[in-house]
Amino acid sequence: MLNVRVKVKDVLSTEPAGQDIVVMGWVRTFRNNQFIALNDGSTNANLQVVVDFENTDPALLKRITTGASLRINGNLVASLGKGQKVDLKATQIDILGDSDPEQYVLQPKKHSLEFLREVAHLRFRTNTFGAVFRIRHALAFAVHQFYNERGFIYFHSPIITASDAEGAGELFRVSTLDPLNPPQTEDGKIDYNQDFFGKPTNLTVSGQLEGELAAMAFSEIYTFGPTFRAENSNTTRHLAEFWMIEPEMAFYDLEDNMNLAEAFIKYLIAYVMEHNREDLETLDLRLKEEDKTKPEAERSEMGLIEKLEFVVNNKFERITYTEAIDILLQSPAYKKKKFKYEVAWGIDMQSEHERYLVEKHFKKPVIVTNYPKDFKAFYMRQNDDGKTVAAMDILAPGIGEIVGGSQREERLDKLVSRMEDMHIPQNEMSWYLDTRRFGTVPHAGFGLGFERMVQFVTGMGNIRDVIPFPRTPKNCEF
Ligand code: 4AD
Ligand code: MG
Repeated sequence: MLNVRVKVKDVLSTEPAGQDIVVMGWVRTFRNNQFIALNDGSTNANLQVVVDFENTDPALLKRITTGASLRINGNLVASLGKGQKVDLKATQIDILGDSDPEQYVLQPKKHSLEFLREVAHLRFRTNTFGAVFRIRHALAFAVHQFYNERGFIYFHSPIITASDAEGAGELFRVSTLDPLNPPQTEDGKIDYNQDFFGKPTNLTVSGQLEGELAAMAFSEIYTFGPTFRAENSNTTRHLAEFWMIEPEMAFYDLEDNMNLAEAFIKYLIAYVMEHNREDLETLDLRLKEEDKTKPEAERSEMGLIEKLEFVVNNKFERITYTEAIDILLQSPAYKKKKFKYEVAWGIDMQSEHERYLVEKHFKKPVIVTNYPKDFKAFYMRQNDDGKTVAAMDILAPGIGEIVGGSQREERLDKLVSRMEDMHIPQNEMSWYLDTRRFGTVPHAGFGLGFERMVQFVTGMGNIRDVIPFPRTPKNCEF
């Protein structure tokens, strides 16, 4: 048996009494041939291992290098040094894996996030990414806990589908046909009858439509899985593969939907504040350091933890799209022609507009409702004004849109006529329309972009730094 180790996190909270323990981990630094800072990923805090160098084979000492993996037996004693409570006095050191210092790129110094993205397979061994990915884990766990506490069913929507839920056409095709020589129909088109599924299929952009089917039986469900969008957006907020949480609830209207979304976001933040304090402190410090390198105007007004506390303790602002446009039209930014894109009722707000509302005007998360129907998806419930739909987006400081959702159109005739207007073939969607044919009910739901949530909680500016292996245009490494 190999795994008799105690995790560093547990060692650090143990009262030292000379007890004999085994630890395993990777060397972060080795100072004066005497002090090993050992890390096993359970916490950013390293265990200080004290080596009796006078009685240790010099050949072994030479192999204790940054990145090497070790198994250490030792006695846990009170530390004589400052900065830590305990030391492990090594009695036996075994090298599990060497790490050639000439070749190992993660030397104990500051590396830029851009550089670390190129060595994403190793970046988990840094303090920043250790903190980010432990928090990502905690958030995922809290997602399940939140919905489980409320009796929602975790529903697995498919990854491969034949539908485009959002109707935006940003699909990754799934096909086993020979791309160089696909079978053709008589009129020269690709013959998808001969493809694996007998029709065109793609990776899902959203589990919502299938989620709605489940909500019509279980009343409250959520999905949590990867989604895929072939949108050519090279920004700090977009991934081609991202994770989304999509709750869908029968017997909810738009207000119920907003209440759930707000409670959900606050719960996730509160969970991390309670369970990941050390990691948040690491990232709080990182953000302060990063801010120092920026011009005054671009610095964050609040520290990371301060911001999270503020969001948990304050009600989100709720305004309609029409009010949002009015605020923009009245704004000094508009009057001084600071916006690059036009502002008028009917525009799909650009990120500069969203940021103005959230960061300059309200200085807190804002829920915008009742958008013009023209740029929203076919399934959103039509309002009586004939112009808007019961949509809601939540905009967060520093992130922009973090949630998109709506009350759904539960009236069959209205839904069908909207699909006709938008040229969505009904025959391929009869399974979806069946929910409106048999026991339709008012219902609503939303999607929370998981990586944007992780960004918000960790303060990381680039979405590529909160998912282990980001997929973006022209980039699919690892
Ligand atoms: O607003 P979206 O497109 O909404 C939907 O997909 C609905 N079906 C959700 C629902 O009502 N069940 O996407 C929802 C959220 C966005 O607010 C954003 O946080 C995130 O998903 N998102 C992305 N995150 C990273 N990269 C991308 N390319 C994203 N596109 C959307
Ligand atoms: Mg959206």
